[in-house]
Amino acid sequence: MALALLPLLSFILSTPLLLLFYPIVHGSNLKCASPDNGSTLRVMHVYSQCSPFRSAKPVSSWEDMVLDMAANDDARLQYLTNLVAGKSVLPIASGRQITQSATYVVRVNVGTPSQTMLMAMDTSSDAAWIPCTGCVGCGRNRFTSAKSTTFKTLGCKTPQCKQVWNPSCTNSTCTFNQTYGSSTFSANLTHDTIKLAMDAIPNYVFGCIRNVAGGNTVLPQQGLLGLGRGPMSLLSQTQNLYKSTFSYCLPNFKSQNFSGSLRLGPYGQPQKIKYTPLLKNPKRSSLYYVKMIGIRVGRKTIDIPPSDPNTGAGTIFDSGTVFTRLVTSVYNAVRNEFRRRVEGAGGGTVTSLGGFDTCYNGKIVAPPISLHFAGMNVSLPMENVLIQSTYGSLSCLAMAAAPDNVNSVVNVIANMQQQNFRILFDVPNSRVGVAREQCT
Ligand SMILES: *[C@@H]1O[C@H](CO)[C@@H](O)[C@H](O)[C@H]1NC(C)=O
Ligand SMILES: *[C@@H]1O[C@H](CO)[C@@H](O)[C@H](O)[C@H]1NC(C)=O
Ligand SMILES: *[C@@H]1O[C@H](CO)[C@@H](O)[C@H](O)[C@H]1NC(C)=O
Ligand SMILES: *[C@@H]1O[C@H](CO)[C@@H](O)[C@H](O)[C@H]1NC(C)=O
Ligand SMILES: *[C@@H]1O[C@H](CO)[C@@H](O)[C@H](O)[C@H]1NC(C)=O
Ligand SMILES: *[C@@H]1O[C@H](CO)[C@@H](O)[C@H](O)[C@H]1NC(C)=O
Repeated sequence: MALALLPLLSFILSTPLLLLFYPIVHGSNLKCASPDNGSTLRVMHVYSQCSPFRSAKPVSSWEDMVLDMAANDDARLQYLTNLVAGKSVLPIASGRQITQSATYVVRVNVGTPSQTMLMAMDTSSDAAWIPCTGCVGCGRNRFTSAKSTTFKTLGCKTPQCKQVWNPSCTNSTCTFNQTYGSSTFSANLTHDTIKLAMDAIPNYVFGCIRNVAGGNTVLPQQGLLGLGRGPMSLLSQTQNLYKSTFSYCLPNFKSQNFSGSLRLGPYGQPQKIKYTPLLKNPKRSSLYYVKMIGIRVGRKTIDIPPSDPNTGAGTIFDSGTVFTRLVTSVYNAVRNEFRRRVEGAGGGTVTSLGGFDTCYNGKIVAPPISLHFAGMNVSLPMENVLIQSTYGSLSCLAMAAAPDNVNSVVNVIANMQQQNFRILFDVPNSRVGVAREQCT
């Protein structure tokens, strides 16, 4: 075991950080660095070969990595369902914000002259925030606001300050505190020009983090870009430019070529795409709800309980959860049929890996799974259904029930199940489009 790990370890230790960074920061022509173009940004998985964050991750086994991602999912599910069960609409900087989301990052150029930040994209969050120079407890890469001629902190009487949840006033600067997992950070409310691919967006409002305290949650190292539907999100701050329309194609985290993309605005979006209505839930107006009717496993269809605006029950698309989570009754039915089919095909005895209760030793023959939405069926390719260890020694159904301690009413279509599809969020026409696209 230790011997097998040695070459990997020495490779990682001998790879200079600069080498990993170079293609991204300098946009060289290495295959890692396909340029951002027009209104289209490259999307990277944080664990992918070219990600600068990869080297920051501890060397771990495949099992550890999967469990790590799944553990973060539990915290995120908690967050998402608390919101749904919770009180009211939560704009920027709620005290109960996203707990884990740094799965996919995009390059954002902040300030004048611009400084490159690799920010996590998150469809279930509205705010944007960035670690700033002077921050106590932030990582190494920070935005130096003093070097930007277009940077401004926002005063306590600005209209933007009123959209902040629980703002306070420090030296007449609008500030807010936000909880993130077990950490809390405090930030100044600020604005500056940001550049997304070729588009400059002046006066973009974001939190400039000044202090991170407590806990062991790692904040997205270079900030977070909220793509939700709430008042301070990218969509609402760029309505004229992007018309509340965007799409993404998420690459597989094992992919070397990651040509995944985030395409902003109505132009260049796919014409041949299937749609399902986009629903709004007053309990959580930032989230992208859809009507999922059933999940087909082999030849059996499991019905999904209808959504309920009063409880927030329903199904959402989320870019920050890794593995699809289903309400317990639905998950159990999906899992039972999956097991029946796998074992019928000689799949051996079921075993588990952390929260995944449907794993088998070796490779298996899994039944086809498709998700049925109002007006649209989506068949999942096998790589979106199974997590498989590198050497094929273990195969698990890449879905789970909501964690025990969460009184979940939400089904979350997570990023692993979305990979290599283009997902189009067309808010003006209230619809979500899904089309197969190989973007690994
Ligand atoms: C950028 O996009 C334009 C228009 O879609 C295309 O013609 C051009 O080849 C692209 N450039 C790069 C470097 O990808
Ligand atoms: C407020 O401003 C004063 C004077 O400029 C400065 O000494 C102090 O550190 C500031 N306080 C905070 C919390 O930034
Ligand atoms: C926000 O956090 C700062 C620094 O951790 C703390 O000094 C301040 O009291 C907090 N403010 C509120 C309103 O909780
Ligand atoms: C936040 O604002 C305070 C008060 O204006 C200022 O002293 C501080 O330097 C700012 N911090 C950051 C990280 O921008
Ligand atoms: C990566 O890209 C190269 C050239 O574009 C292609 O030949 C290769 O098959 C790709 N590899 C994967 C794993 O997609
Ligand atoms: C989805 O598949 C189900 C079962 O095969 C079928 O009854 C239904 O008509 C399909 N819906 C669409 C929109 O194709």
